[in-house]
Amino acid sequence: MSTVSRHYFGCESLEDDHSFYIDIIEIMQEDYGMYVWPCSIILAEYVWQQRLRFSGVSVVELGAGTSLPGLVAAKLGANVILTDSSHKTEVLENIEKICNLNKLNCRILGLAWGEWQTPLFDLHPQIILGADVLYENTDFDDLFATVTFLLQNTPGSVFITTYHNRSGHHLIEFLMVKWGLRCSKLIDGFSFMPQTKAASLQGNIQLVEIMLNHTTN
Ligand SMILES: C[S@@+](CC[C@H](N)C(=O)[O-])C[C@H]1O[C@@H](n2cnc3c(N)ncnc32)[C@H](O)[C@@H]1O
Repeated sequence: MSTVSRHYFGCESLEDDHSFYIDIIEIMQEDYGMYVWPCSIILAEYVWQQRLRFSGVSVVELGAGTSLPGLVAAKLGANVILTDSSHKTEVLENIEKICNLNKLNCRILGLAWGEWQTPLFDLHPQIILGADVLYENTDFDDLFATVTFLLQNTPGSVFITTYHNRSGHHLIEFLMVKWGLRCSKLIDGFSFMPQTKAASLQGNIQLVEIMLNHTTN
């Protein structure tokens, strides 16, 4: 059964005091990519609060699922490419419907982590977004391979991701060292959330900004 959830962004992100909202089509009991995960709500709020960084910037969202962070970036004037696994046509089709529903013109692309398909080589995002993409240990290296490639493809670019910190930050630290990356910012996902939104979320969610280790910015 599909439902539409409405997500407000504004001073207090309240219904009666908002700048805009995004409607998301969710299909419960379907694939992971068919509903909005808490990490997505937190990353979307961060994008909103960091809005000066997004105007006119090229953004790629990885494992976008229902794409809330990428859609907020598009609303703020970024040129956004929303991606999810090329093997998940139902997720990609749902992204298209959500873009149409919100009248947002984003490119939608099938992109499986760790797979070297032609469109990947033409991507030059200044900001890469990923909400709850670090959840399956066996996929971490594939994800980091794609992220590292994209960071190398655009000097000065950054990967901003939110994840459930289930076993400490050690695994992420290990992966960053392994892939020649560094953390430029690490914050508690709840530290910047408006109370109205935080109240409905649970977990230990971290937000991290990751760059190539040898860049100076
Ligand atoms: C937990 S869901 C998060 C979805 C969305 N970002 C959110 O937070 O609401 C993980 C997403 O990653 C996508 N995904 C999983 N494995 C993938 C892979 N190997 N390549 C690309 N996308 C993948 C799934 O289809 C799904 O949309």
